[in-house]
Amino acid sequence: MEKKKLFIKTYGCQMNVYDSEKMSDAMIANGYEITDHSGDADVIVLNTCHIREKAAEKIYSELGRYKELKEKNPKLKIGVAGCVAQAEGEEVIKRQPLVDLVVGPQSYHRFPKMLSNLKKKQKLVDTEFPLEDKFRYLPKPRKKRKSPPAAFLTVQEGCDKFCAFCVVPYTRGSESSRPPDQILDEAKGLVERGAVEITLLGQNVNGYHFNTASVFYDLASLIRELTKIKKLKRLRFTTSHPIDMTDSLIDCFGTEEKLMPYLHLPVQSGSDRILRAMNRKHTRSQYLDIICRVREKRPDIAISGDFIVGFPGETNKDFEDTLDLCRNVNYAQAYSFKYSARPGTPAAARKDVLEKTKAERLSLLQGLLQDQKNAFQAKMVGSILPVLIEKKGKEVGQVVGRSPYLQPVFLDGTEALIGQIVSVKIKTFTTNSLEGLHNFG
Ligand code: SAH
Ligand code: SF4
Ligand code: F3S
Repeated sequence: MEKKKLFIKTYGCQMNVYDSEKMSDAMIANGYEITDHSGDADVIVLNTCHIREKAAEKIYSELGRYKELKEKNPKLKIGVAGCVAQAEGEEVIKRQPLVDLVVGPQSYHRFPKMLSNLKKKQKLVDTEFPLEDKFRYLPKPRKKRKSPPAAFLTVQEGCDKFCAFCVVPYTRGSESSRPPDQILDEAKGLVERGAVEITLLGQNVNGYHFNTASVFYDLASLIRELTKIKKLKRLRFTTSHPIDMTDSLIDCFGTEEKLMPYLHLPVQSGSDRILRAMNRKHTRSQYLDIICRVREKRPDIAISGDFIVGFPGETNKDFEDTLDLCRNVNYAQAYSFKYSARPGTPAAARKDVLEKTKAERLSLLQGLLQDQKNAFQAKMVGSILPVLIEKKGKEVGQVVGRSPYLQPVFLDGTEALIGQIVSVKIKTFTTNSLEGLHNFG
């Protein structure tokens, strides 16, 4: 009998990418196969993001496109998973009746069961935060299922920081860390199946902490433990909050060769007044001090950040402070967004900055960040970088990988290079990628 097919589309952060992988594993264990075409699917799942209004709206326009598919195949089941599911629950079905199933990020291990329980025309919503640990209920991926050379591993979930603008504490629940033995097992499994690099994930990954009977683990000790896996060559972690940047974690950048020289450390604003209004729990100078200390340990490190412009109450002076902070830090790359009021968050009740002002500020900030990124890229030309080859490139005979600084690097080469770390002499750059030669000898 032909297997049923699952089409899954992922939005939002890397934690959603990881969750989609896990949902796929659970469905494969239940007899499904994965398809890249929504038109072939028996089940479609959108794994969604609620972080800004635009992200959430995208889901409804995508769902609208499935109307025809459902008319053609009335047995088609459509599921909405992730943060929109958690935030809006049954509202999703009210707004788009095509949807059969709504499942929050803490319940996706129950998804195959829910699906088989779905009776004709019945709808199901599960947005609980169950007491059971979903990771324990998820099937281990089969040995045959290959891992990409650069894999993700969620070690921590949820957030207790309650920044005034952010939905994550509501969609992902409170902070919790997975037991180290579970993480080590999963990491070894990934490496056995082909991973060379692992990025440890968490909404507040550097808040990771776990007490075993004998040892206290924080992110630094977890990293040190993971570096002992011989065939694992590279480690990264994301996303960090400044107040959890401990000395021991900063030290790792100096001592752990496998830890890549890249730190994503969102700051959101360079103004102390706005940082306070955002409930970020740190000042501008504390942030700058962390950057200094990280650079002492690893002078070449690529610093990345997140920014919000036009937070309620942000004046020109506050915005100038943000530009000034950027000049101070000199980012290798960064993400910046216009503030978007989110239902249920404290800042949503405050007076919004004019849209025009937000747009102007965003364009100024992005101009500056773009210049900094270009300068960082340009610095690479002429150097020889170790590149982990991840996949085929856009052109025939070309492959693409990542530098230690997370830059995509294009080079001529065959698929045989995938999964290897090769030395590449960098010849040219664009804002978003580098190009070089592998056999430059
Ligand atoms: N946990 C991470 C970030 C999670 S969300 C941290 O602590 O920084 C990713 C980014 O989206 C945030 O860093 C922020 O820059 C942006 N963001 C979150 N809520 C937003 C909102 N309401 N409007 C605009 N951008 C937002
Ligand atoms: Fe959101 Fe703040 Fe938590 Fe990051 S630390 S997830 S921005 S509430
Ligand atoms: Fe979006 Fe949820 Fe991640 S809101 S950014 S998918 S935690």
